[in-house]
Amino acid sequence: GGATRSLRHESAAMHVQGSASYIDDLPEPRGTLHLVPGLSARAHARVLSMDLDAVREAEGVVGVYTAADIPGENQISPVGKGDEPLLASDLVSFYGQPLFVVAATTRGAARRAARLARVEYEDLPAILNVAQSREAGSPMVWRPMEMKRGDAVGALEHAPRRLSGRITVGGQEHFYLEGQVAFARPGEEGEVHVISSTQHPTETQHMIAHVLDRPANLVTTEIRRMGGGFGGKETQANTCACLAALVADLTGRPAKMRLDRDDDMTMTGKRHDFVIDYDVGYTDEGRIVAVDMVLAARCGWSADLSGPVIDRALFHADNAYFYPDVRLRSEPLRTNTQSNTAYRGFGGPQGVVAAERVIEEIAFATGLDPLEVRLRNVYGTHDRNVTPYNMVVEDSISAELVPQLARRCDYARRREAARAFNATSPYLRRGIALTPVKFGISFTATHFNQAGALVHVYTDGSVQVNHGGTEMGQGLHTKMVQVAMREFGLGSDQVRITATTTGKVPNTSATAASSGADLNGMAVQDAVRRIKRRLVAFAAAHWNVAEDAVRFLPDGVHLGEKVIPFSHLTRQAYFARVSLSANGFYKTPKISWNGETGQGRPFYYFAYGAACSEVVIDLLTGETKIERVDILHDAGESLNPALDIGQVEGGFVQGAGWLTCEELVWDKAGRLRTHAPSTYKIPACSDRPRIFNVELLQNAPNREQTIFRSKAVGEPPFVHGVSVFMAISDALASLDDYRTCPRLDAPATPEMILRTVARMRHGD
Ligand code: MTE
Ligand code: MOS
Repeated sequence: GGATRSLRHESAAMHVQGSASYIDDLPEPRGTLHLVPGLSARAHARVLSMDLDAVREAEGVVGVYTAADIPGENQISPVGKGDEPLLASDLVSFYGQPLFVVAATTRGAARRAARLARVEYEDLPAILNVAQSREAGSPMVWRPMEMKRGDAVGALEHAPRRLSGRITVGGQEHFYLEGQVAFARPGEEGEVHVISSTQHPTETQHMIAHVLDRPANLVTTEIRRMGGGFGGKETQANTCACLAALVADLTGRPAKMRLDRDDDMTMTGKRHDFVIDYDVGYTDEGRIVAVDMVLAARCGWSADLSGPVIDRALFHADNAYFYPDVRLRSEPLRTNTQSNTAYRGFGGPQGVVAAERVIEEIAFATGLDPLEVRLRNVYGTHDRNVTPYNMVVEDSISAELVPQLARRCDYARRREAARAFNATSPYLRRGIALTPVKFGISFTATHFNQAGALVHVYTDGSVQVNHGGTEMGQGLHTKMVQVAMREFGLGSDQVRITATTTGKVPNTSATAASSGADLNGMAVQDAVRRIKRRLVAFAAAHWNVAEDAVRFLPDGVHLGEKVIPFSHLTRQAYFARVSLSANGFYKTPKISWNGETGQGRPFYYFAYGAACSEVVIDLLTGETKIERVDILHDAGESLNPALDIGQVEGGFVQGAGWLTCEELVWDKAGRLRTHAPSTYKIPACSDRPRIFNVELLQNAPNREQTIFRSKAVGEPPFVHGVSVFMAISDALASLDDYRTCPRLDAPATPEMILRTVARMRHGD
């Protein structure tokens, strides 16, 4: 029923009461040490000397630790590149890189002490952005990728019409409400237990083991819930976790590292900003014939996840559109800034912005409605359904979904109304845009597409579920409870989800790439079905009914005509010595990807959707108001419509924030100046659309055999924020009567809007 399907988030009541515990809320054992890192004050320099005497002598300080104190390897590169020391020693590579860690009896004491370090540097040339990195010819952090089909260069030369341009797309701070935090407790004989706000407990476990030089079986990591991750805790949780484990190990005392917001923003990587050059050939009817694009990204000082992130920008540089001849190239550029990392969409949204820019360029050049250009280019059937990476799009629904939303939100009439309004409005201008999304679901690294679960049924019929995924607010745990409920026919009060821990389910993947529910849901189902098979065999024999007469339904276990409580069955099964606990496992079928040849099927399926945004901009102040947003989103046969709508709303707002108000600014010294909410503006409640209609596509089961035919929903809706950016561009285009593309860069902050207005009025 509806109430069961839209089961409320398992921690909803605790969230609103403030009683859900996050790591910093856990009671601290006596003797807990508090850790604060000492950070580099140079973007790129040799460290000539580091005098930490004053730090050591400061009040409350118990110890100060540097790279020399690390028993294992001083290395936390998540991709085995060996380019990411946990603590810098003779070289610093960005402003904010941890050099040492102070352990004190209070956090305040540790903070004050950390400031007393005297570090002597010899400055080296610092490369801070894409332009500088290109100019210096500095090495890339990852192999550049070339994705191509057909002959883009030749097709461009023969195209009826051709245009080229550039767009810059800004980065984004994750701004998880709970910052990076880890709490480590030493155990016996080298054991260490670390509670870490990590999206990837297994990797955190391995990093700690590596840094401490011991086998993984001595290290356990655990996480009940994060106060948001958004990709920012996929690898970047490792620093706090390893430092807390290190100090706990060295001192034999519990150690907690909770970063201050300023330190968090200064130290950790963000969404990659891009400079994208495009060259496109098209027809008078607005059909794309060829695309050639170079996508250059600021990756920061180490590889981190930049390789797969930049690859995914290429995978989505087509958004929902067919490019007959195409060449896409990446430049993952090294810079002396924070190591950029995963962020909701994993590079995909940046690729989509480029695709949508190409569409609007063609629309302004041909005088067609951008929506018309979109519809003429969306993936179709037969020869118009192959991606630049040679995967056939078998499930494209954009051609139906986009017009469906256009009708529902009355796009055509409202577009005319906006134009009529603009014709007589000197300072306020309206804009509207409707953009599609097609988002590939699966980790592009094939081996990550596996998951495990552990399900226990106790003799009283209560069930405990554990799986490899982590909860960061998205509702994954709730969905996993629902899988067990539905399989066993139980109520939510009979199924308990427990903290994620490497001690229960080992060798798991990050909860990322939106695949948490897809992967872990199938693993939970597998575990439950193993238990059910044993229970069915037992029940059939014990009550003398056929096996297919045993059914698990909400009113109890059916044994033919007879109905017994689940707890009755489990107790009887226990007495008959039937195991009531099972592991489950799942691996995604059908996928394969070879990054070297650019061939394969990297995605199991695509999630689709479309968004229509209407904005009004103020030409005097540069401000934007989002007046109305309509979204139609494809979550397949939604596991939980209430949670999924929440994901769509939250993703949209975060995407709109990225492209409008959130701006990262570094000074010439490479110091991030926007390192607190006072200078970095995320969308507030009052920035949400005045009218916000979000609907899930109905009767749209996944064609592939995912858990209950649902689709992943975590990241794709982030891309809907692109419609706001395109609507702002539409409003600006009114300045010259829609004859040219405003070529707006992102983020469209008030300053950017004013600059664009000035450029459009006075020329370049
Ligand atoms: N929703 C909330 N509330 N908090 C988060 O941190 N992270 C997003 C998305 N939705 C996030 C979120 C990201 S980046 C991903 S990859 C997915 O959730 C991960 O969870 P899933 O795989 O269970 O969808
Ligand atoms: Mo999400 S960026 O894959 O953690």
